Amino acid sequence: MIYFDNAATSFKKPIQVKNTITLAINKLTANPGRSGHKLSQQVAEIVFDTREKLKQFFNAENYDVVFTKNCTEALNLAIFGSLKAGDHVITTCFEHNSVLRPLEKLKSNGVEVDVVFCEKDNLTFEIEKFIKSNTKMIITTACSNVTGECIDINEVSKLAHKHNLLYLVDGAQSSGHIDIDLTKTNIDLYAFAGHKGLLASTGVGGLLIKKGITIQPMLCGGTGTDSENLIQPNDIPEGLEAGTIPTLPIISLNAGISFLLKNFQNIKKIEENLSNYLYNQLKNLKFLKIYSKTDSKNVFSFNIEGYDSALIANILNDEFGICVRSGLHCAPLIHKKLNTIETGAVRVSLDFFNTKQEIDELINALIKIYKM
Ligand code: ALA
Repeated sequence: MIYFDNAATSFKKPIQVKNTITLAINKLTANPGRSGHKLSQQVAEIVFDTREKLKQFFNAENYDVVFTKNCTEALNLAIFGSLKAGDHVITTCFEHNSVLRPLEKLKSNGVEVDVVFCEKDNLTFEIEKFIKSNTKMIITTACSNVTGECIDINEVSKLAHKHNLLYLVDGAQSSGHIDIDLTKTNIDLYAFAGHKGLLASTGVGGLLIKKGITIQPMLCGGTGTDSENLIQPNDIPEGLEAGTIPTLPIISLNAGISFLLKNFQNIKKIEENLSNYLYNQLKNLKFLKIYSKTDSKNVFSFNIEGYDSALIANILNDEFGICVRSGLHCAPLIHKKLNTIETGAVRVSLDFFNTKQEIDELINALIKIYKM
């Protein structure tokens, strides 16, 4: 089996992550921040250490880490926790439904939403045209989960702060694949998924919140703090993490981040090489319509003219044992822009453990499918 669906979730986890999950289910099953006993404290220390490692990895000393169950929940927390009736928010056609659907819902609560459609290189310029007196927030992904194009988040952040706006970044696809320096880019809110480039199990994501920013809680419940108070505290992180947090996935994330802290420079080089190789090989197949760009990172989408993307993905799976994702990738607006809303597109997404031989097998499979 060849796995090219790492944008959905990374498949091969480092041995350190696998061993840590086994250790955690055997020995670290207490609830942190609730009971005072030794085991609870031990788990609390690992959770704390995971927050610290995330801050180190994203250069985010002046940020707090709130754990959620995935990136979607982190984005929902940031969006519903910051916007109220009368506010205006600007986002882009590159976004996933984890941004677009919360915003659509907020429209009925009196929040105004504008979506910018343009090429990624004009994004900052185009976004600025939409800013008005009640604009509160700009939301962009860092990298598209359809084309692999990465947005100049540094420029968008400068624009946001020039106008005193909050900047929320969806880091589902960028985390663990490209450099994200929150201090340098001055991003206010950064959402991540644990189970993709950060190499953890499913079940954990999070939101990095620049200190000083207030977010209203989305869930109410036990926090292990201020328990006599029936009003949900909004202190960070506890007030935003009501209920038992997903400790086992968080412990696996600790191992994933530790692995990245040691190996990230190397991983980036490998992925850069694989991305260039894949893009050039795809380009050689003149029967493909390619939607990604030379500078796309890890994620490449294309179609064979006249075929539905699902058919190609099914043949790749059934006849060649190659896993890809087809359809709309939960990101309908970029497909509208690419004119692929009817057919979807075939998406190949890489991780550092993929090889050039696997890419060659994919290319040969596509040639065979075209000739069928
Ligand atoms: N958002 C994930 C993807 O792009 C699941 O496949």
